Amino acid sequence: VSDSSRTFDVAVVGGGVIGLAVAWRTAQRGLSVVVLERGELGAGTSHVAAGMLAPIAEAVPTEQPLLRLGLASVGMYPAFVAELAEAAGRDPGYLECGTLMIARDRDEAEALERQLAIRQELGLPVARLRASEARALEPALAPGLRLALEIPGDHVIDPRLLVPALGEALSRTGGEVRTGTEVASVIVDGDHVRGVALASDGAEIDAGQVVIAAGVWSGAIDGVPDGARVPLHPVKGQIMRLHDPAGPGLLTRVLRMQGGYVAPRGDGRYVLGATMEERGFDTTVTAGAVFELLRDAIELLPGLGELVIDELSAGLRPATPDNAPAIGPTAVGGLHWAAGHYRGGILLAPITASIVVAGLVGEPLPEPAAAADPGRFAGVTVDV
Ligand code: FAD
Ligand code: GLY
Repeated sequence: VSDSSRTFDVAVVGGGVIGLAVAWRTAQRGLSVVVLERGELGAGTSHVAAGMLAPIAEAVPTEQPLLRLGLASVGMYPAFVAELAEAAGRDPGYLECGTLMIARDRDEAEALERQLAIRQELGLPVARLRASEARALEPALAPGLRLALEIPGDHVIDPRLLVPALGEALSRTGGEVRTGTEVASVIVDGDHVRGVALASDGAEIDAGQVVIAAGVWSGAIDGVPDGARVPLHPVKGQIMRLHDPAGPGLLTRVLRMQGGYVAPRGDGRYVLGATMEERGFDTTVTAGAVFELLRDAIELLPGLGELVIDELSAGLRPATPDNAPAIGPTAVGGLHWAAGHYRGGILLAPITASIVVAGLVGEPLPEPAAAADPGRFAGVTVDV
């Protein structure tokens, strides 16, 4: 006799931005879906993220497949958040603000000119601004800046509003969420998945298909056959949250400089980030990192020194060997990946959900999916 409280079309392991986006879109297609989250929804890396939707500012010339994924996803964002706001009855915190990349001295200006040339060769919309033009857009910028690039299409969203909106939309669409529920392993019978086993008591949840969306911890889930594994390692990011007692207005666009960024929320709150560190699963906050983030940001935006610090935190970016995520079906029937989103999981949530759902319902995968094929890692291992 099947137990309907333990039987689903799809089980999603992990309730971060990726698992929730996938589950919401899956429920919309009429499949029964459960999200199994060991802590609270969004308690992993999604809780720490700045939320920049920045495929152009973060473009790396050697990572063009990833750039295509990012551009596809940023293009989906306006419709995605409009539909989400309607479905959830709450604001997902999307801010169409654009981005400025800033150089402080001659060396940084030369580096920024190279960044401009790369983006122009790729046909990306970027404008070169003189210092006076940048300061006309953002009067709080320090007089000493040398050069700026304006990227009008790179925006920002507040992940701490996006996650609850996705959770609410999922519930209203008939999806189920189980928090405090850790998955120990996926269960594979022959060449097909048939569910997951829970860590607490070994109880099994039957599911015709399973999506692994447990962020940087996905590699710790047992039972994934060798040919379907994805090597993941953490890249630590320390980040600071602040607010301006005087209200909004100090900065209206995302500001990116060598070594960091300042992202406005539009209401007087700001995020200042972030370090990039290879330190395993360590999430401590260090004095040196906080000092360097503040020093660099205040040099460019002196008014930041008046802000109140609300929070210091550190998160773990889930990185793969080629920095692109693993999204979609595997060689094991019914087993899908949605992990390894590194610096761009907030950006890539809409396109990830589209690719995974296409795989779940057996439709052709959208075009940029090839860059994220989990199969490219068959036989690859990584030491953490
Ligand atoms: P997570 O949010 O980590 O979610 C995974 C979930 O799985 C967690 O809630 C965890 O508790 C759960 N889980 C783990 N193991 C199990 C298990 N065995 N069973 C059940 N549940 C389990 N991205 C952007 O796009 N823009 C940015 O500006 C940006 N800024 C960032 C700044 C910093 C400092 C950092 C660290 C990251 C940033 N990122 C940014 C990256 C982004 O945060 C991640 O790519 C994204 O959050 C990954 O989402 P996820 O859902 O895959 O993982
Ligand atoms: N995407 C911003 C970060 O990873 O810090």
